[in-house]
Amino acid sequence: MALKRRPAAQPRQSRREFLALAATAATVPMAACSQSDTEAYDEAAARLRAALSAAPEMREFVRYATLAANGHNAQPWRFMIGETGAGILPDFSRRTPVVDPDDHHLYVSLGCAAENFLLAAAAHGRPGAARFDDRGDGRIEIDLARAQAQAGALYAAIPARQSTRSEYDGRAVAPDELKLLEAAARLEGVALTFITDEARRETVLDFVIEGNSAQMDAPAFVQELEDWTRFNPAEALRTGDGLFSGISGHPTMPTWLGRLMFAWVFKKDAENEKYRAHMRSSAGIAVFTGDKEDKDHWVRVGRSFQRFALKATVLGIRHAHINQPLEVPVLRPAFAAWLGAGGRRPDLVVRFGTAPPLPYSLRRPVTGVIV
Ligand SMILES: Cc1cc2nc3c(=O)[nH]c(=O)nc-3n(C[C@H](O)[C@H](O)[C@H](O)COP(=O)(O)O)c2cc1C
Repeated sequence: MALKRRPAAQPRQSRREFLALAATAATVPMAACSQSDTEAYDEAAARLRAALSAAPEMREFVRYATLAANGHNAQPWRFMIGETGAGILPDFSRRTPVVDPDDHHLYVSLGCAAENFLLAAAAHGRPGAARFDDRGDGRIEIDLARAQAQAGALYAAIPARQSTRSEYDGRAVAPDELKLLEAAARLEGVALTFITDEARRETVLDFVIEGNSAQMDAPAFVQELEDWTRFNPAEALRTGDGLFSGISGHPTMPTWLGRLMFAWVFKKDAENEKYRAHMRSSAGIAVFTGDKEDKDHWVRVGRSFQRFALKATVLGIRHAHINQPLEVPVLRPAFAAWLGAGGRRPDLVVRFGTAPPLPYSLRRPVTGVIV
């Protein structure tokens, strides 16, 4: 199959999990963040992603685990570490109940962290296995053995992976690369579907626009997004979590101003327009679907997605979530039926393609997540 090259669109700055402040930024007095805050942000992001030491302690595996993708960058996890393994537990104080009322994203995020933990440990002679323990609130138990170190490409990609919420360059991804992505993501209990043809991608876009419109019309959704937005590097550094405006190249501003303007400038039509540009400039869409709708499978989906994202990073392919068709409950069954999911619940929708990198997001210190 010949690679189709889409016309490269003009770069635009936008994404849903940030805000549409850019439009108004030029017209309001900006108290721009100081150079030192920006430098401190960049240093913190780099420190978080520093290579592990030659003989890392368990807490270093935790640092790499926390670099995993997670909804709203809420980091809804706690880690228990011991000599022979670790437990990854939900932190319900970090739920996002509006966008994720049944904690689906929360358990997917735990799965993403588990995969990073397993890869980091295996790279340093501690290969292991993860299983979901459904007692109580549910947790992931990781048992580690001792063996030859296996530092593969996915491990090396952990600090380089990022969600890239920009317009991509329109280039297609080669079929053999899709096969590599599929192979990397393969995990029992999870199916991966690629959507690359134009007509089907447009249908997914229709679902995204409908879902995004419903979310933008819901004050509680907008409020939750605002609550997790960090409007300047100092605020992002203080919390170590949330969605920092700067990571999409948006202007930064004092927190009070950001909060004042958020709902006012975060507009449905502009957001939908950006999604059209984002999706039409991507090479394709990946949908992850668990065999069952339970926490165990949500964790599996997270592990599979994280492997996909790491493999994509190895291949120079970017990714960003477009989960609106699944997050809006009334849309999900229609999307599942269109996809031919056969009664299963599609868990994640992710676009992929090529684009320059954006700044990295932050995490809370390891000391704050180990119990
Ligand atoms: C379960 C899950 C749901 C997510 N949903 C969205 C989403 O709807 N929109 C989006 O832009 N990013 C979404 N993300 C990406 C996170 O916001 C991102 O992983 C987090 O902010 C950390 O940034 P990083 O991936 O660059 O490390 C999601 C991630 C996960 C694991």
